[in-house]
Amino acid sequence: MRLSANIILISLMAWCCAGYRILVVFPLAGGKSHSILGEGVVRHLLAAGHDVTYIAGVPSKLSAPTLREIDVSSNSRIFKPGELCDIDKVLSQGKEIVFDQNVYRWHLMLANHTAAHEDVQRLMLDPKEEFDLVIIDWILSEILVGLSSVFNCPFIWLSSLEPHGRVLSLIDEWTDPTYVPGAHSRAIPPFTFAQRIRELFYIARLKYIRWQLMSEEQVLFERGVRRCGAMRGRQLPVLEDVKYNASLVLGNSHVAAGQATKLPQSYIPIAGFHIQDIPLPADLQRIMDDAKNGVIYFSMGSLLRAKRMPETLKQGLLAMLGSLRQTVIWKLEETPKNVPKNVHIVSFAPQQSILAHPNCILFITHGGLLSTNEALHFAVPILGVPVFGDQFQNVYRAVQKGFAGHVRLSHELPRDLKLAIQEIIGNPKYREKAKQWSFIYHDRRAPGSELVHWAEHVVRTRGAPHLRSLALLVPWYQKMYLDLLGLVFVIVLLCVFVVRRLVSKKIDVNKKNK
Ligand SMILES: *[C@@H]1O[C@H](CO)[C@@H](O)[C@H](O)[C@H]1NC(C)=O
Repeated sequence: MRLSANIILISLMAWCCAGYRILVVFPLAGGKSHSILGEGVVRHLLAAGHDVTYIAGVPSKLSAPTLREIDVSSNSRIFKPGELCDIDKVLSQGKEIVFDQNVYRWHLMLANHTAAHEDVQRLMLDPKEEFDLVIIDWILSEILVGLSSVFNCPFIWLSSLEPHGRVLSLIDEWTDPTYVPGAHSRAIPPFTFAQRIRELFYIARLKYIRWQLMSEEQVLFERGVRRCGAMRGRQLPVLEDVKYNASLVLGNSHVAAGQATKLPQSYIPIAGFHIQDIPLPADLQRIMDDAKNGVIYFSMGSLLRAKRMPETLKQGLLAMLGSLRQTVIWKLEETPKNVPKNVHIVSFAPQQSILAHPNCILFITHGGLLSTNEALHFAVPILGVPVFGDQFQNVYRAVQKGFAGHVRLSHELPRDLKLAIQEIIGNPKYREKAKQWSFIYHDRRAPGSELVHWAEHVVRTRGAPHLRSLALLVPWYQKMYLDLLGLVFVIVLLCVFVVRRLVSKKIDVNKKNK
């Protein structure tokens, strides 16, 4: 009796504490920022005891008996993010890098290529493969939600940006363009009249692009995913229904980096979950320890090809950095000529560990959200040189909050940077503000455990339907009360008609009486 009770207890424990099987999908290849987030998600889930299958555009360096990786780095053939942000092009043509229809189509192809990948197809077609949850990186296309239909389990979007209309519209509704900028907007509220109009047009443009790609999306969804479901003997729903069926959006966002935006219950901000405590390599540790006047860390991220930076600009920057009293660590893929003594070129930089060092006094960055979040995390002031996408917004917001400076990317960069560096290092206000905002950023539950908690919550409550926004059920014309407006219009029309009839009758009667 006792023994069987024990066995029941043990099997109960095994049942309730066994990890879940979670499929994590980060298909972008050729650029690092998304894979840094993907690895962060995987790392936290593994640590919490779950079984993870990771479909990775950039293979991770993680290893665990409960981790299985599906390498889809061949995706880099489809879409090379590096080509999108060529410094040389921006400098020579002075043009903005805009996200046009091509960029959206590339991402659609990327998602399709992932679904069509041999190993992913094998996974989908194997009836023994089951998952409790799918977590998908949201990058401009939604067809990979089909994975949740194939495995008949709930799914969560991971959004790499501050909350924006397109991603929020998948779980609730579009953000209000009168005070929430679009994902790539360069405007910071309060908006001027012109900016407000521009924000409205931005939404219209996005919706138009989305509409243009809709039929293409549908075809690819049928071909890549629905077919697999059918072969598993499951009738899959259509894309338009699954697309809006996410249980949650986990956002790489925090109000300290963004703005206080109205958010639905199913949006959970977890910025900073990717940040780890890693010791510095010995050589960098020594360089940073010895830097009596502080260290300036200079990195334009992993997408910007410094290699293609014009030689004159590179030399100008080196000469300028050489004239500083501070030690400079510059992340560049190759070592240029004439490197001054106080400048150290590193092809790989453990960015978090460099920012964590107490001697790091300034971070010169392109302003990607991972970088600005890391700067906030370690309370290091920023000097932003934004190039494309959300970088402008991130930098402008940091400037508005008082812990950053902004310099435009141009051939005058060395001169402009020098002035800005002197201003930020010379004025203690920037460091103070960085500390204040860093405090706000840290004063919350640890983002990694939030991530794990909410992922588990979705599994435990079978898709967390209680968090679903009812806004998804109401058509847009009802939200704008256009039906009421229509009704009022009809009533007014009727009244006018009746009054006219009465008046004309009266006139007739009057005429007859005469
Ligand atoms: C939406 O998600 C729930 C919970 O995961 C699931 O039961 C339902 O079948 C899904 N519906 C569609 C249309 O995908």
